[in-house]
Amino acid sequence: MAKTLHSSLVGLIIRQKEPTNLETPFNQLDAFLTPTELFYIRSHFPTPTLELASYQLRIDGAVRNPFSLSYKELREIPSETRIATLECAGNSRVFLIPQAAGAQWELGAVGNAAWTGVPLGALLERAGLEEDACEIVLEGADQGTPKEAPVPPSPISYARSVPRDKAMQREVLIAYQMNGRDLPQDHGYPVRAIVPGHYGMASVKWLTRIHAVREPFHGYWQTSDYGYWDYLDGKPVRRALGEMKLKSEIARPSVYETLAPNQVYPVSGAAWAGETEVTEIVVSTDGGHTWAKAEFLDPVQRHAWRRWKFDWLTPKRKGRYTLLARAKDANGSVQPDTHDPNYGSYVINHPLPIEVFVDDGTNPSV
Ligand code: MTE
Repeated sequence: MAKTLHSSLVGLIIRQKEPTNLETPFNQLDAFLTPTELFYIRSHFPTPTLELASYQLRIDGAVRNPFSLSYKELREIPSETRIATLECAGNSRVFLIPQAAGAQWELGAVGNAAWTGVPLGALLERAGLEEDACEIVLEGADQGTPKEAPVPPSPISYARSVPRDKAMQREVLIAYQMNGRDLPQDHGYPVRAIVPGHYGMASVKWLTRIHAVREPFHGYWQTSDYGYWDYLDGKPVRRALGEMKLKSEIARPSVYETLAPNQVYPVSGAAWAGETEVTEIVVSTDGGHTWAKAEFLDPVQRHAWRRWKFDWLTPKRKGRYTLLARAKDANGSVQPDTHDPNYGSYVINHPLPIEVFVDDGTNPSV
């Protein structure tokens, strides 16, 4: 049976010490909202320290009335709270064969939290967004020189753009709280963007500037990193990753866990999608030969994951079994069978094999 552990007794898994890259132990999934202490941290540069007293958020570029806000002024604007699942685009990279370069995330570069802040659209309306602004560049205070080629000639700050239409959606927040409390420093204190439905790289932390642009932004994290190959008239073109793809993950059992034979084991996990809804989960306990429906533990809530459960009567026969989970969305799409190489070492959303042993612990030769 799943054990309920108090979050502070569990902790995160180190993938990289500096910059801070820490993974959620996904097999501890117990609640709809990931406890803040267990939420994964993905940072490209050392965590900056921003002081509340001097904090300023600048809104400028293709706007009629550029302005700056102090933290206090931001807090005075009517806020909204939204639940959103953030998944790092490189989550589950360790499942790629052959092994891909980059942080070897297992299943836990994903989490679901309640975010409180001001809709980005409200700030852009106040600034008078120009008709011809096509994207909104979100810029963080953290800076450095990325290690992967092509290396920019001088240090850069972390920046990502959001398409205008998405930026104006009510769910996109300039957030200052996570799960009802001020953002922790590693999660972007004091202010970050939250772009529900998009991979985590869009949710810029330590946000200091919102810059409307008239031409698509081709910054480092849109092109060199977090990009993929698309095809236009049969020719490959580079595009920036955006919407999260449909995915489900098994939280329990864990890889190589040993289960008792002929007993009901509750296989459990979570599934999410970008701008659509997860409508069905099927589970296989025989490496994908046969599938059975799982039941949802959470109702549909746009941009939030749905936990699910499947009661597996484990085989009487000892052996090694491969478990898979596959989600379907409201458009009738299912997760792909294999990883699409056009995404490089990102978008790892095929059903991920969890191998387990069924064994009663007795030694057959005795
Ligand atoms: N924002 C800044 N300023 N710097 C970063 O390195 N990492 C991005 C995004 N926002 C990043 C950032 C990536 S790749 C992800 S997946 C999410 O933050 C992770 O958010 P979290 O650390 O709060 O989980």
